[in-house]
Amino acid sequence: MTRLGVNVDHVATVRQARMIDIPDPVEAALLAEQAGADLITVHLREDRRHIQERDVSRLRQRLTAGLNLEMAGNSEMTGHALSLKPDDACLVPERREELTTEGGLDVVAHGKQLREVVSRLRDAGIRVSLFVDPDLKQLEASREAGADAVEIHTGAYCDAGGPRQAEELEAVRQAAAAAAGLGLEVHGGHGLNAGNVAPIAAIEEIVELNIGHSIVARSIMVGMAQAVKEMKALIAAAESAGS
Ligand code: PXP
Repeated sequence: MTRLGVNVDHVATVRQARMIDIPDPVEAALLAEQAGADLITVHLREDRRHIQERDVSRLRQRLTAGLNLEMAGNSEMTGHALSLKPDDACLVPERREELTTEGGLDVVAHGKQLREVVSRLRDAGIRVSLFVDPDLKQLEASREAGADAVEIHTGAYCDAGGPRQAEELEAVRQAAAAAAGLGLEVHGGHGLNAGNVAPIAAIEEIVELNIGHSIVARSIMVGMAQAVKEMKALIAAAESAGS
């Protein structure tokens, strides 16, 4: 059964809009966990626009589900990860002016730096995934960098319309098969929602999906528990239809 990582960053986005302490992303994470989230994902961005270090340490204390920290692959963030001790870290590219993570990591170009970060995190018992576009060279470089897993960027698939969407889906499928063939665990995420998750959830090699914005958006309408249960049900249905 594919694991669902619920990303609660945007609960913190609403809180930061007023710089007070509600809504609490930790409370949202606990509700998501009770409703069946297999892990909780947060992105501690360098500009701290949503999640703060204190949120991550409170999550670390209170969660039963795994904690997956998305982070830039630099030495400052590595230091934070080593003291916050998530179960998993997902290294992502980060640019301050972007609205959200816009592309995968260039592991081919930054292999040396990433290899060092991956090894420091793994030595501390943190499993490491690299967020990459569905591109064979990036997958091979991810394995060379020592990653446990890759998270395949599904944004291009989600954003594409018409026949291009089928092409982008095929690229994700091929990348998932290639990554598994290289011995990497395969995750997926970015831009997934109730309308586009099924074909991705049906890809056999993908064992984890990280979904944030669409679940938090839905939770405003129906509550966090219902939003998580709906997404879990869609993933389970797609998996059984695909098998
Ligand atoms: N995976 C990664 C690596 C991300 O950077 C993000 C965005 O924070 C997500 C998954 C979740 O994307 P979305 O909020 O579009 O579901």
